[in-house]
Amino acid sequence: MDFAKRIDDAISQAIRSGQAEPSPGKLASALHYTVTPGGARIRPTILMSVAAACGDDQPEVANAAAAALELIHCASLVHDDLPCFDDADTRRGKPAVHRAFGEPLAVLTGDSLIIMAFEVLARAAQHDPLRAVELIKVLANRTGMPNGICAGQGWESEDEIDLSAYHRAKTGALFIAATQMGAIAAGQDAEQWEELGARIGEAFQVADDLRDALYDEETLGKPVGQDDLHGRPNAVIELGLDGAIQRMRDILGGAISSIPKCPGEALLAKMVTAQAEVLTPIKWRADRAAVPGE
Ligand code: IPE
Ligand code: IPE
Ligand code: MG
Ligand code: MG
Repeated sequence: MDFAKRIDDAISQAIRSGQAEPSPGKLASALHYTVTPGGARIRPTILMSVAAACGDDQPEVANAAAAALELIHCASLVHDDLPCFDDADTRRGKPAVHRAFGEPLAVLTGDSLIIMAFEVLARAAQHDPLRAVELIKVLANRTGMPNGICAGQGWESEDEIDLSAYHRAKTGALFIAATQMGAIAAGQDAEQWEELGARIGEAFQVADDLRDALYDEETLGKPVGQDDLHGRPNAVIELGLDGAIQRMRDILGGAISSIPKCPGEALLAKMVTAQAEVLTPIKWRADRAAVPGE
């Protein structure tokens, strides 16, 4: 089964269990609305790729890990779009959850998805209790304080931002979770997988800065020019467009060389290269000549 199907099935199964009757109908709908259709699913795809590279000997555990990670990511976006954070009206080409369901239900949707993520991992203990506990530890570490996305969002309320700590927590954390959880799901030690996740996260941040600067709202499916609007640092402002592209490529080159020894090392390197292509704005892609209409 391909990764996308495994990821979608695992997420749908989790959402369905959260919608079991009797449940408040609007909140149940908001859960589904938030995860469907999904975004790029880049984090769970990386997780699955690492698990596959490490042998994927417990696919049920990898499926649970991928779903849990994406549920946390989706929850973070729901909260991030709220008026008290970025006050964004659209996400993934449709109204943000608080615009579609109202603020109280958006807060509860994010909360429910966070809790659901950990429930999914707790349930995976029936397949492998030790791996499930390790997965819970890593996901909690990369979600909360001081290393997780909560910390990342928290930096935005500080008078002085430690830029690298901010980016590492806001964006890097869930990429580190992706590589480490993929390794854990396949029975490997997580520690040596941190660097790869951190580097992919760093490259993703630069790619996100490029998208924010280059694309329009219709293409991105969410408001653009946000970094300017909120006075946030942005690699394009710092380095210019070509400089930012070069920075992204350099970081991804480093990411590939940091892949730990494992049976699927070569395939994983190909996956990182493929993701790099997806992250690169169309104009700079190596296969640009093949893109119709460009
Ligand atoms: C958006 O992440 C949030 C950031 C950390 C910049 P993605 O670009 O992965 O969002 P989706 O899941 O594809 O919508
Ligand atoms: C969202 O970051 C990341 C988290 C919620 C952790 P941003 O606010 O920079 O991303 P977008 O532009 O809304 O996707
Ligand atoms: Mg934000
Ligand atoms: Mg935002």
